[in-house]
Amino acid sequence: MARQVDEQIAARFPVGQRLRVLDVGMGQGTQALRLARAGHEVTGIEREPRLIAVAREALAAEPEGIRGRMRIVEGDGRDTGVHFLPGSFDVVLCHGVLMYVEEPDALLAGLARMLAPGGFLSLLVRNGDALAMRAGLAGDWAGALAAFDTTAYRNRLGLDVRADRLDTLTDTLGGIGAPLHAWYGVRVFTDLAADDAVVPESREALEALLAAEERAGRTDPYRQVAALLHLCGVRG
Ligand SMILES: C[S@@+](CC[C@H](N)C(=O)[O-])C[C@H]1O[C@@H](n2cnc3c(N)ncnc32)[C@H](O)[C@@H]1O
Repeated sequence: MARQVDEQIAARFPVGQRLRVLDVGMGQGTQALRLARAGHEVTGIEREPRLIAVAREALAAEPEGIRGRMRIVEGDGRDTGVHFLPGSFDVVLCHGVLMYVEEPDALLAGLARMLAPGGFLSLLVRNGDALAMRAGLAGDWAGALAAFDTTAYRNRLGLDVRADRLDTLTDTLGGIGAPLHAWYGVRVFTDLAADDAVVPESREALEALLAAEERAGRTDPYRQVAALLHLCGVRG
């Protein structure tokens, strides 16, 4: 994911340009902080005070230069128009958030409005075309059958949330002026790994795992049944 974001940024903007990045639903700010460390000017917006506190604490431990480049806003991703001016960002990330938003179109339109011309929109969503995979591979046949004709699912936290279909999002992105330019599958082979699964100890094993995932995420038909989709739109 991070590699795909960096690759898209490198393809679109001159090397060394300090980009204005908005991370919507930044959680504890892992991506936001990573991009601030890379020299960009990052604003993270998050609605959960507990996560804001974690992000602030992590930021406080950074050198002054990085602290000065990152801003944390407590708020709802659906209200970007309240907090920021249209066209004021080069990159907008919205990773792992759409699952929690019942009507995503308005949020997405708001995100597209935040982008300057040529700006890059990065979405990470649950793949609504492959919801039966997790249950099916786990041998839960009733769950697999129930998952074919819906985009609703229960996540690992036990929350009832929703997935997005590639075709639907492709149409939406076209309609809001940030057409799809690239997409990847994320977690093709590793979706069934437990949250507390042990990361391979040897560097070679970890690199092989990441390389296999990366390759599958860019290759049909594997990417089509990934647990998550990474969609990249570009503001026209
Ligand atoms: C699965 S986490 C992803 C965090 C981070 N983007 C990442 O990729 O690691 C989803 C985050 O989105 C936040 N979120 C969900 N709906 C939101 C909304 N409408 N506005 C702002 N944040 C939201 C949640 O509080 C949570 O921190």
